[in-house]
Amino acid sequence: MRLLVVGANGLLGSNVVHAGQQRGWTVCGTYHSTRPTFDIPLTQFDLQDYNSFDDILTEHDPDGVVNCAAMTDVDGCETNPEQAHILNGDAPGGLSAHCDANGVEFVHVSTDYIFNGTEREPYGESADPNPVQVYGESKLSGEQAVTKGTTDALVARVSFVWGIHRNRDELTGFPAWVRGRLLSDEDVPLFTDQWVTPTRAGQAAETLLNLAEQEATGLFHIACSSCVTPYEFGNIIADHIDNSEELLSEGSVDDVERDAIRPTYSCLDVERVESELDRPQPTLREDVETVRDVLR
Ligand SMILES: NC(=O)c1ccc[n+]([C@@H]2O[C@H](COP(=O)([O-])OP(=O)(O)OC[C@H]3O[C@@H](n4cnc5c(N)ncnc54)[C@H](OP(=O)(O)O)[C@@H]3O)[C@@H](O)[C@H]2O)c1
Repeated sequence: MRLLVVGANGLLGSNVVHAGQQRGWTVCGTYHSTRPTFDIPLTQFDLQDYNSFDDILTEHDPDGVVNCAAMTDVDGCETNPEQAHILNGDAPGGLSAHCDANGVEFVHVSTDYIFNGTEREPYGESADPNPVQVYGESKLSGEQAVTKGTTDALVARVSFVWGIHRNRDELTGFPAWVRGRLLSDEDVPLFTDQWVTPTRAGQAAETLLNLAEQEATGLFHIACSSCVTPYEFGNIIADHIDNSEELLSEGSVDDVERDAIRPTYSCLDVERVESELDRPQPTLREDVETVRDVLR
């Protein structure tokens, strides 16, 4: 398998590169602002130039493309909606169309933020999307643009992504922030009124490649099987760090002022991916256990 990872320097992208290499696949990638140090063929590519993605396909000649690049700054999308719609909405459609025209398998990554969060049961793939901020709107239009051009694409929605960044080899995302504060004896205020199914980037990367290997198409939710509040997630992290639990305090999403609204409930139902791959998704505790050495 010859795999091209768009956004090879991102948290998820670096894990897809790593997972592909672990399988002995030939991996190449694109980056935008920072060239990763992976020893693979890399080309600088801006999603804005999606019309010229054909040149990237000609240069690298992949069998499959995984698009992990996006404008991921949720508040930044709110203040720059035009850019968000180009990078998260139009560009994925362009990439997908070029892949389709060249007979290349296309995998695209989307988000739980396409849901408005009014449910209290995990969202399945067939639940109606109804985003409440520009980021979610732009990502939803990206999903629609990808599937409009072809029925063969795979779209994977992930949620609250965290894990080891495989180029920098460091813990990244929510657990890194919690760990940093706990180790410096700082108070850690954590929401008790938001629910998510955190996605560990390494687990998602493996799952994406398993699905690609099986030539699965359509929509899949990829996350852990535990629907938790950030406060509960923080407690699982604190379990691995001595004498730290008393530093955790209960907070509310209303305590923080941000440009974009977040859904208060965006847990994803992972039954479809479990059934497709005939194995369970990990619980959050199992996912955190895989990084226990890094947490200490
Ligand atoms: N992080 C989360 O909690 C979360 C939650 C749900 C869904 N997702 C989705 O998961 C996917 C992966 O996100 P992530 O967590 O790995 O985010 P990330 O670490 O912020 O990575 C984003 C990637 O996008 C690239 N990028 C940004 N602007 C670009 C542009 N104009 N042209 C080309 N590339 C550009 C960045 O490249 P450079 O680093 O080279 O600039 C980086 O590689 C995205 O589709 C995101 O929407 C993330």
